[in-house]
Amino acid sequence: MKLPFRKTLENITAYKPGKPIEDVQREYGLEKVDKLASNENPLNCSPLAIQAVREAAVNMSIYPDGNSTELKKAIADFYGVSETEIMPTSGSDEMVSMLAEAFLDPGDETIMPDITFTSYIIAARMVDSKVVIVPLKSFKLDLDGMAAAITDKTKLIWLCNPNNPTGTMFTEDELTAFMSKVPENVVVVYDEAYVEFVTSPDYPKDSYKLYQKYPNMIVMRTFSKVYGLAGLRVGYSFAGRDIMENINKIRKAFNVNRLAQAAAIAALKDQEFVKKVYAVNKEGKEYYYKCFEKMGLEYVPTQANYIFLDAGMDCNKVFVDMQKRGVIIRPIKGNFIRITIGTMEQNQRCISQLKDVLGK
Ligand SMILES: Cc1ncc(COP(=O)(O)O)c(C=O)c1O
Repeated sequence: MKLPFRKTLENITAYKPGKPIEDVQREYGLEKVDKLASNENPLNCSPLAIQAVREAAVNMSIYPDGNSTELKKAIADFYGVSETEIMPTSGSDEMVSMLAEAFLDPGDETIMPDITFTSYIIAARMVDSKVVIVPLKSFKLDLDGMAAAITDKTKLIWLCNPNNPTGTMFTEDELTAFMSKVPENVVVVYDEAYVEFVTSPDYPKDSYKLYQKYPNMIVMRTFSKVYGLAGLRVGYSFAGRDIMENINKIRKAFNVNRLAQAAAIAALKDQEFVKKVYAVNKEGKEYYYKCFEKMGLEYVPTQANYIFLDAGMDCNKVFVDMQKRGVIIRPIKGNFIRITIGTMEQNQRCISQLKDVLGK
């Protein structure tokens, strides 16, 4: 008997998360496994966040504050914006789905880069929109190409800056030029999951405030990366009242759990931790660059906490061979892999295994 799944599911490939460490340990009988596959924080999270989770756990039987009031207030104070322009979500992933649901009717067009965060295409296909894919140019988002793809059916455009998985970014000037070509009735999603790792001075300034300049823009950020709270699922977005009020209609009543709200409030207070994560990441990326250069591997300089590189060999083979040696990386496409920057110890282990696998 054929069950009545929606036809669109035939066009959707399930999101493939990085393999859990425990699975790899069991499969290959390994004691030590480094997961450098999902851009997680190698320093875990702030001790203040752990303490806040312990304290919040005493009220586990009580639903969380459905409005995330205290968290909204903490974010509003931190950034100096109005609470009405902030929406915490269960990871920014939840916002990706809600944006597709809020703006895309079946047949509407939505534009995204060819190689980018996979949740966008899953969300867009789920609502039967027409996905218009624009290839990257030298591993960067082709903003001119994306602007040229706009038609009178376009409703939503997805920009990831820095882009996952390539780690490339576009500058303020490039963004301004792009936005000047986007009609006011087309919504631009500006996803900054990795903004705190950016080292380039040309990155758009005060980017969280872009929605104030562009009422058709929503800026997404997350506590999963630099704050190290991926396991709790908490992200947040900035947008004008009109967008927030409408998205709020489809938001689940208790979308951000009690522990996540408490941890995120505490994590924001520990900017020393953020600085430490930034420094470890910067040192790590410079280490990788040097190693890749010595190994003769082509890599894409990154503005995030991962590096996209040409392994010179099928990515799935590299993935399996690295896994057998206790390092989980992410195969992307063709010969391209993505490695999350870890602690220096993890980076050194990764390089040593990669040399083995690639015969360098
Ligand atoms: C570009 C980008 N956006 C959003 C997310 C989702 O983050 P989360 O749902 O954990 O907040 C990720 C996660 O990897 C990402 O890479």
